[in-house]
Amino acid sequence: MVNFLIFGPPGSGKGTQSVKLAEKFNLTHLSTGDMLRAEIAAGTQLGIKMSSIMSKGELVPDEVVIEMIAAKIDSSKDCAGFLFDGFPRTVAQTVALEKMLNDRGMKINSMLVLDVEHDELVKRLVLRAEQSGRPDDKDPVVIKNRIDVYKAKTEPIIDYCRKRGIYQPINGMGTIEDIFGRLSRNMKKYL
Ligand code: AP5
Ligand code: MG
Repeated sequence: MVNFLIFGPPGSGKGTQSVKLAEKFNLTHLSTGDMLRAEIAAGTQLGIKMSSIMSKGELVPDEVVIEMIAAKIDSSKDCAGFLFDGFPRTVAQTVALEKMLNDRGMKINSMLVLDVEHDELVKRLVLRAEQSGRPDDKDPVVIKNRIDVYKAKTEPIIDYCRKRGIYQPINGMGTIEDIFGRLSRNMKKYL
């Protein structure tokens, strides 16, 4: 199994690219944001509890997402590996993921970080709010907070992974197809 992290700030294209990459390389796409939104849509107790945190653009507790990911790893077997999208988001989540993978004879093989200019991130999220309407895209204050939270709590993972030699910066500006090509060329080296 070959395991990738797709990384980057809100609006950098993690979800868009993950769907295409998972299909191309037979990877299981695991997005904690999508899993949490599914809990909210299903009206579960967990969803109800997490929705107020998510609507402010804050992170949900580490234990919640670590448990979700552990359950998915154990139930997904027929794939070439995992593509983690929006997880890990704190250094503590990264340590937990490494342990989870190590315990199962796996590791994080590569971390692909989408670099996108700040104004482009905001532009994409504002546009999506008009089109599909994710609640956390609707308020510019929440968009700003998500980007601030990324910088404060999530970006430190880059340094952690750089020390492990798995950090791969990818230019995340341009068309979806151009970026897909850059990511694909990079991932092919491992598959
Ligand atoms: P999550 O769902 O992970 O959201 P996010 O990180 O804020 O990122 P987005 O999904 O908004 O952006 P993306 O990078 O996937 O870009 P996308 O492809 O959608 O998390 C949501 C919340 O859940 C968090 O705030 C937190 O509360 C909670 N949460 C989730 N995981 C957690 C964790 N591990 N720990 C704690 N809390 C957690 O693209 C964005 C838009 O741009 C789309 O409309 C797309 O069509 C468009 N677009 C994409 N690429 C391009 C391009 N090249 N050109 C033009 N438009 C483009
Ligand atoms: Mg996403």
